[in-house]
Amino acid sequence: MTIKNNDTHILIFVKILVTGGTGYIGSHTVVELQQKGYEVVIVDNLSNSTKDVIYSIEKISGILPEFHQFDLCDAELTAKFFTENKNIDGVIHFAAFKSVGESMDFPLKYYHNNLKSLINLLKCMGDAKIKNLVFSSSCTVYGQPDILPVTETAPFKKAFSPYGHTKQICEEIIEHTIDIYGLKAISLRYFNPIGAHGSALIGELPLGVPNNLIPFLTQTAIGKRECLNVFGHDYNTPDGTCIRDYIHVVDIALAHISALERMTNNKSAANHEVFNLGTGNGFTVLDVIRTFEKVSGEKLNYKLVDRRSGDIEKVWADTQLANNVLGWKAARSLKDMMLSAWKWEKQLKSKK
Ligand code: UD1
Repeated sequence: MTIKNNDTHILIFVKILVTGGTGYIGSHTVVELQQKGYEVVIVDNLSNSTKDVIYSIEKISGILPEFHQFDLCDAELTAKFFTENKNIDGVIHFAAFKSVGESMDFPLKYYHNNLKSLINLLKCMGDAKIKNLVFSSSCTVYGQPDILPVTETAPFKKAFSPYGHTKQICEEIIEHTIDIYGLKAISLRYFNPIGAHGSALIGELPLGVPNNLIPFLTQTAIGKRECLNVFGHDYNTPDGTCIRDYIHVVDIALAHISALERMTNNKSAANHEVFNLGTGNGFTVLDVIRTFEKVSGEKLNYKLVDRRSGDIEKVWADTQLANNVLGWKAARSLKDMMLSAWKWEKQLKSKK
């Protein structure tokens, strides 16, 4: 990237480590970083992604990102990586397990993976004197909030799942660690990230039967699944189905760059800051289905069924802090999200 300094242009390379960089949000963030001139190195254990993603990233940005395959839970390998890669200026930490349902069945897998990888990373960042960390958090830390839209000052309620609990604990680990290690951190609390890159070269690629709404919906529309079950129709919402704040994955990716630059430009108001990443608009499951049908021209086969255990009724973000302090605002509409998700699903089918 070129930095202007006293009328001269100096070419400097700011190198960012993206853990989980071949995953869904990670891959979109790598593309945006590269397109802004950052040099990116990815660490991923490929537990929920494939190496092909780096070649798809290259097709979009023209740059093949440096890639290291190992597990951040391995303290020795993590330390070795940092010893061999001394010129890293900041870290964006996505690498984690993220399925709410799976975390109910395998809680220790979630506590072990999500906590251990962060602990190893923080220790190595401290030793290597790497200052800036962006942490991938979630609105799940709020549980069912008492007041909507939910602000960053809302208390952590009892987590609905081990997955959600790991995000709460990770934020607390960061809070208690950064001063000791001389770090700065920003935790970004995502609402419901959906959609795909406009090129349809990267997107969400769930292994097996999807748990989340959008991949299940698009797989149903394309004929891979028979019927979408809409979980619950007796909630206290306008049409009885749950309300969420869906946000385009590219908007989420861009927020990571705003967060990184806030720290590197010394604009942080505290060593650990948190921001909600949402649009501020809540949509019901039926709103999402109707929008999908409108933009795709497809008729979706769905039925209303019982509630899914662990689901909260409604949540959407107060985005004022992110808009006014972080200087970031979601720009893409629900229509954009559904169109890009559909384009991605059709592209996946055409590859088979
Ligand atoms: C959850 C987490 C969120 C996490 C996300 C990614 C909570 C409160 N939220 O979001 O932090 O980032 O998973 O894993 O824990 N639905 C259906 N049919 C389906 C699937 C979903 O009706 O087949 C409904 C759900 O009941 C819900 C909405 O669609 O109302 C969204 O569900 P989903 O996409 O699974 O995300 P969350 O559970 O909201």
